[in-house]
Amino acid sequence: MTHRLLLPALASVLLLASFLGGGPVRAADAPPGASSCTGCHASQRIPDSVIPRIAGRKASDIVQFMREYRSGAWPSSVMGRIAKGFDDQQIDAIAAWFAAQPE
Ligand code: HEC
Repeated sequence: MTHRLLLPALASVLLLASFLGGGPVRAADAPPGASSCTGCHASQRIPDSVIPRIAGRKASDIVQFMREYRSGAWPSSVMGRIAKGFDDQQIDAIAAWFAAQPE
């Protein structure tokens, strides 16, 4: 089920990324909701940041974190509250987009 939703989303993101020459995908191409993540999970490296980097991480890992934050299974300071605002489809799309960003 998850894979049927995730793979087409991932494929289209990868296609888009390669169309743009493999460079950074512009924020305007991000799925709905992703811009609410990038304020904290910035695309550029910030030394000594307490916020973990998620750009370039495996989509399945991001999805799993988001589900566990949402259910409360994984402790967090802010992510539990944030994750509650997203349904599975939105999380899949956002995770695929972050996974396609340069590390
Ligand atoms: C207010 C700042 C903020 C926003 C906005 C935010 N995050 Fe986070 N995120 C954090 C912090 C801080 C952590 C560390 C866990 C905690 O304390 O909540 C984290 C952890 C994570 C992790 C776990 C990474 C790891 O390796 O531990 C993932 C995945 C993640 N966020 C995804 C997202 C996504 C997707 C969004 C947008 C829907 C988002 N975050 C929005 C601050 C934020």
